[in-house]
Amino acid sequence: MTEILPATTEGIARAAALLCAGGLVAFGTETVYGLGADATTPTAVARIFEAKGRPHFNPLIAHYPNAEAAFADVIATDTARALAAAFWPGPLTLVLPRSDTCKVALLASAGLDTQAVRVPADPVALALLRACNRPIAAPSANRSGQVSPTTAAHVAEGLSGRIDAILDSGPCPVGVESTVLDLSGPVAVLLRPGGAMREAIEAVIGPIQRGLPLASAEARSAPRSPGMLQSHYAPGLPVRLDARDVAGNEALLAFGAPLAGAAAVFQLSEGRDANEAAARLFDGLRVLDGTPGVRGIAVMPIPQDGLGLAINDRLERAAAPR
Ligand code: TXA
Ligand code: MG
Repeated sequence: MTEILPATTEGIARAAALLCAGGLVAFGTETVYGLGADATTPTAVARIFEAKGRPHFNPLIAHYPNAEAAFADVIATDTARALAAAFWPGPLTLVLPRSDTCKVALLASAGLDTQAVRVPADPVALALLRACNRPIAAPSANRSGQVSPTTAAHVAEGLSGRIDAILDSGPCPVGVESTVLDLSGPVAVLLRPGGAMREAIEAVIGPIQRGLPLASAEARSAPRSPGMLQSHYAPGLPVRLDARDVAGNEALLAFGAPLAGAAAVFQLSEGRDANEAAARLFDGLRVLDGTPGVRGIAVMPIPQDGLGLAINDRLERAAAPR
């Protein structure tokens, strides 16, 4: 059952309580409706991908009630601060390096070293974010492959029965997604045009370059550009999939009862739960990649259904020759 909540004090409090308990709540922003989950809880973030029916993990935007809260989770540059002062709250998303104290789950950034952050302008969204008092990860609230929803009814068409609630704050005034600007490199790169105009951004920080959003960059067929390879987290160690046995000099990414004899084990999910495994995937790859003295990472088979598709997609990328 998906609750439809009005944009009242009580409705916002109910939405915040559901989010804080690990639930999924769609909420309106000035751009489009987002499908929110507590960004600090990996299993809650995993539910987003499950509900959207996405066959791969893509990095999500973390939403905050103000710039100060956003800049606690990323390393803000002077450029970022100038843009925040000019555009927040508003339809601009900034991609910045994750800070050492970043509270956002690695799954929300799909294992990347960067995190996309934004402060939306809608007053109901801001009230919700203040009530949650933690970053809320939210992609557009549509099923995978469908267009972004701009009314609560659009959200219900795609996601009713798959999420806990929809906070109905009326139609979204902007109606297109936020502009995504990557500030993690030496030059600012426009990854996705959106609600904040390029000219307005350039008036604040000077010329910016045009780039490709990760999603479309990923969709392009091989060979991949070197820039893309570095933007995607790949372990330094070779990755061996579908392991039925493990050598003494290999680290094991386990799913269910671990194979015996590995040099190190990271358990994705003892009970073979795909949601739990998704929530732990990027931490597991990083931890095992740092194991001293091993020659590779062996991965136990993971069934190809539900979130297993997205997990296997990511593992296949990690195992691809490079
Ligand atoms: O207006 C919006 O931005 C809406 C509302 C809900 O905030 N959200 C939204 O999220 O459109 P989504 O997930 O549908 O699109 C986010 C875009 C994707 O193209 C994603 O690849 C990119 O932002 N993105 C997110 N994190 C990134 C990162 N760390 N590096 C590069 N691109 C990133
Ligand atoms: Mg989207």
